[in-house]
Amino acid sequence: MICRVPQVFLGPRGYAAIALLLLPCAALQGGEPLFPNADFETGALDGWKQIGDAFQFQPTKGDNSRARGRESSGHDGEYWIGGFEKYGGRGGRPGDVFTDDATGRLVSPEFTIKKRYITFLVGGGNRPGETGVRLVCDGAERTLATGADSETLLPCSCDVSEFQGKRARLVVFDEARGSWGHVNVDSFCAADEPLPDSMGAFALAEGIPTEAGPNCSYNQPLRPQFHFTACQGWLNDPNGMVYDGEKYHLFFQHNPLAPVWGNMTWGHATSPDMIHWTQQAHALLPYRVDRRAGTIFSGTAVVDFNNSLGVQRGDQKTLCAFFTFAAAPKFYQAMAYSTDGGATWTYWNEGRAVVENQGFDDGERDPKVFWHEPSRRWVIALWVQQHPGRVRFFTSEDLVHWQHASDLMRDWAFECMDVVFLPVDGQGPAKAVIYDASFDYEVGTFDGREFHAQHGPYRAGGGNFYAAQTFNQNRDGRAVQISWMRGGPNAAELYGVPFNQQMSFPCELTLRTVGDEVRLCAWPIAEIESLVEESIVREDETLSDGDNLLAGMEPLDLVDLNVSFDPGAAKRVVFEFSGALLTYDADSRRLVQRSVDEQGGPVEVVVFEDLRPRDGLIELRLLVDRLSVETFAFGGERFFAAYYSPQRGDGSQTIHAEGGEARVKRLEISRLRSAWAGRNAASSAPSGAHDGPR
Ligand code: FRU
Repeated sequence: MICRVPQVFLGPRGYAAIALLLLPCAALQGGEPLFPNADFETGALDGWKQIGDAFQFQPTKGDNSRARGRESSGHDGEYWIGGFEKYGGRGGRPGDVFTDDATGRLVSPEFTIKKRYITFLVGGGNRPGETGVRLVCDGAERTLATGADSETLLPCSCDVSEFQGKRARLVVFDEARGSWGHVNVDSFCAADEPLPDSMGAFALAEGIPTEAGPNCSYNQPLRPQFHFTACQGWLNDPNGMVYDGEKYHLFFQHNPLAPVWGNMTWGHATSPDMIHWTQQAHALLPYRVDRRAGTIFSGTAVVDFNNSLGVQRGDQKTLCAFFTFAAAPKFYQAMAYSTDGGATWTYWNEGRAVVENQGFDDGERDPKVFWHEPSRRWVIALWVQQHPGRVRFFTSEDLVHWQHASDLMRDWAFECMDVVFLPVDGQGPAKAVIYDASFDYEVGTFDGREFHAQHGPYRAGGGNFYAAQTFNQNRDGRAVQISWMRGGPNAAELYGVPFNQQMSFPCELTLRTVGDEVRLCAWPIAEIESLVEESIVREDETLSDGDNLLAGMEPLDLVDLNVSFDPGAAKRVVFEFSGALLTYDADSRRLVQRSVDEQGGPVEVVVFEDLRPRDGLIELRLLVDRLSVETFAFGGERFFAAYYSPQRGDGSQTIHAEGGEARVKRLEISRLRSAWAGRNAASSAPSGAHDGPR
């Protein structure tokens, strides 16, 4: 018996693709219903025998997976079986969910196999033998299909000619618990022809418009004004950060459909200066190849400056984006390229692997690709295993064929590796720095194949920084890093904004000798100057107990504040403005911040432990935006990011000492303008065309 599931998943072409999907599937393909209510359109399980409790809320009505922010169901007609859905149109709400833990079966009425094919739609868990559809005929049982770890129903055509004329039943089974422990089905038909391969071609991407978001506005009062956020929906890791000779590209893990993680695509934004961004059409969308449907996880992009790939058109250098194809049962690394400066993308070899799964972890991911000039090779650093931690290096001359070069065994290493080259104290040959998502790092040398450690491991940063990446091939050699500010409350839910999560402010990374160690430092890029509207400087001020250095100052909003102070006899030095509150406690030598937990509740976070004056002074820099504070100490030797709740605090604006006198040597407060100024009118990003897998 041959079951065919379409192999071709054409890339989306905006809304045209969606129209195609809305056509009813099976019924229009010349098939006829296998038996009454084979499409569940009675709105009940008439004719089906229900065993166990997995299907007690079935059939479900309408596009429920879409209603809860997941991929579209792609169902036929009105009703279908969606094992995780709870809404059947009889109470409750679209998008209500059931559980993955229920098990059971649906057994069809008996029917005669009259045609060569049984066709149907199937989705849900990719759990062969545990979730799916089987045929029971002549005392034999044949499994016909399982899902693809997607709620989207995809067409399946099974050649049952060997059973023609016989009586049979279908069994829709769900014996699986836990993640993806459910099955979705619809429209069982008898047909002379298999469903065409193109059916369901856009299923996984249905409902994901390529446009970034028409009428995108950044002027909501609680929208960050100099930190990147998606027009709408969820974002996490920065991806594919690269300077292409004219502009900076920031791709990002993006759910364009909802303000929660899911439907991973690469969103796309461009900028002349890493500060003023324009969101473009989404670059990489979920696709399907070789019967596997997957979403697009993190990775990096390079400018193929020497045409290694060989697809360059004219003078325009090719951009190559390496990403993780997150498809069950095992992820692999794939590549897409753009010959038009990032406007349209083509999946290399239809999105098949350029680096196969290495057999260590089903979720091997996040390829970091860079050019290593001394060995004149491209290099990938890929996280492949957590216990024991393993980062695998590969090299290539053509960006397509990758040879295994070495394995770095490090228990600290977990996802989103990055490798940067930096001189120590601005002098001498560059050292290699390798770090992971949580910013654990080592400093050493890289010979083109292998990393040799010299310092570390250490952890840089702190607080909400996660999955940071540096721009590849930056124009002036600076290593400029942006990270996802992971966590904080769901801004969409709590503040009613159309997005959730933000990026950190771009910082230049440097290596500095600190005592006997070589440490990674981060400092906001100098381009922040372009946002400064006004700077107020105060020097040599004594803060007596209770004095407020900001007394009488116009309310502050977006702020870049630099201060050096001697805590002197004070017990505490307090900084409060724009809703953010930080306190230096002289006894514990801690800097703490009033922050907000993921539920929106108040929480105090320790920004820096053991923050001691040097030559009598503590040096701090604070970047305060509408939802977040980034704090830097001693020129970036220590840095920390945290959210705060703009809804807490009483609007106080103060810098004061408590319990004794402190001295402010220098205070510089820069009021910043919005990086979105001028774009707050409804601005729609250009729509991009996407080429399907080739
Ligand atoms: C890190 C991460 C990556 C993965 C991506 C998925 O935040 O888990 O490892 O590629 O997010 O969105």
